[in-house]
Amino acid sequence: MLRGCFSEFKSSTAVLHRRRTAAMFFIMFVFSYLVLNSTFDSCQIRLPEYLVSSTDIFSSAISLHSLSDSADTSLETVLEEASMHDKTVILTTLNEAWADPNNSILDLFLASFRFGYQTSRLLNHLVIIALDQKAFVRCKRVHTHCFALTTEGVDFSQEAYFMTPDYLKMMWRRVDFLRSVLEMGYNFLFTDADVMWLRDPFPHFYPDADFQIACDHYSGNSTDVATNLANGGFSFVRSNIRSIEFYKYWYSSRVTYPDLHDQDVLNNIKFDSILTDIHLKLRFLDTTYFGGFCEPSRDLNKVCTMHANCCVGLDNKVHDLRIMLQDWKNFMALPPNMKSSLRSTWRAPKNCSLALRRHLDLSGTTAETIS
Ligand SMILES: *[C@@H]1O[C@H](CO)[C@@H](O)[C@H](O)[C@H]1NC(C)=O
Ligand SMILES: *[C@@H]1O[C@H](CO)[C@@H](O)[C@H](O)[C@H]1NC(C)=O
Ligand SMILES: *[C@@H]1O[C@H](CO)[C@@H](O)[C@H](O)[C@H]1NC(C)=O
Repeated sequence: MLRGCFSEFKSSTAVLHRRRTAAMFFIMFVFSYLVLNSTFDSCQIRLPEYLVSSTDIFSSAISLHSLSDSADTSLETVLEEASMHDKTVILTTLNEAWADPNNSILDLFLASFRFGYQTSRLLNHLVIIALDQKAFVRCKRVHTHCFALTTEGVDFSQEAYFMTPDYLKMMWRRVDFLRSVLEMGYNFLFTDADVMWLRDPFPHFYPDADFQIACDHYSGNSTDVATNLANGGFSFVRSNIRSIEFYKYWYSSRVTYPDLHDQDVLNNIKFDSILTDIHLKLRFLDTTYFGGFCEPSRDLNKVCTMHANCCVGLDNKVHDLRIMLQDWKNFMALPPNMKSSLRSTWRAPKNCSLALRRHLDLSGTTAETIS
């Protein structure tokens, strides 16, 4: 069912690409039928899309459009202007619903950088990827580095309800886009806009990891794929051959798991042997530093970021993020000796957890799938 949705996803050259893919499928079919009759099933499901994915660079580059005619909004330029010395950028995506000044996810996000401890300078390196015209206009009004990324035939402007086809498309578009950023040679820290930035996260990243990602649940062992539950809303990725291959594989895996979104697919493919084959160095980030509503950071003296994950509904998110930011401001206003002695905790999540409980009762899904 969802496979159909993806067909309108790319421009007309993608049709050619698909034909080539189809031909490739067919050749592989015949080949594997004749030679590897018994192993046909596994070949057909996993390999073809990934093997041809190098041509993806071309077809997806075509669907990158700049909404403004001026040349200075090309992705290359925007990234260059926002980049740190070591070619690292901070990226977030934004649609109209999240840019709306009346609910102000964007305002809360930007405010967190200003209220955070030594985080305001990081705004110089933040690129907001607008997914529609209104988000782009709003970005231009409040921020320096904005880029308009549109996808032909898809409207990402409204609040995309969790796990609807539009939500899935938006998430997969993001994975594909981030791959192209890596291919341009930039390391990136991707952050959802509902992540509050309270301290500089960079000192807490593993120096040797290719891909490090925050968690809905952190087990205490940063290398253990089995026990950590990744959350795609916050990740730091270094541009190299391993991370690029990994992003191609991740994106191609949407075909293998048509009903799952990028994060759940990630939580499946993290076990795949291909990650070992490409020698990807994968790390999970401790919720002590990178917390969220699923598993809040328990120490305000250590917390870097807090994500409004495990939350359904935009109003609930905004409501609880406001409380959280207020808690943070109260903490920052304390005299130094009280900061370290006090066992401060968050008042949020409030409405998020109520809504989540109702949602889970209705849908029977697991808490882990709610971002
Ligand atoms: C925001 O709220 C104001 C006043 O309630 C309203 O006039 C305006 O249309 C709203 N803006 C959007 C984008 O919904
Ligand atoms: C962490 O997990 C890895 C992978 O499962 C394992 O090899 C390692 O022994 C674990 N480390 C600790 C300290 O438990
Ligand atoms: C949050 O929950 C409180 C108490 O249930 C309710 O009064 C309030 O309207 C809720 N706020 C939002 C934004 O849903």
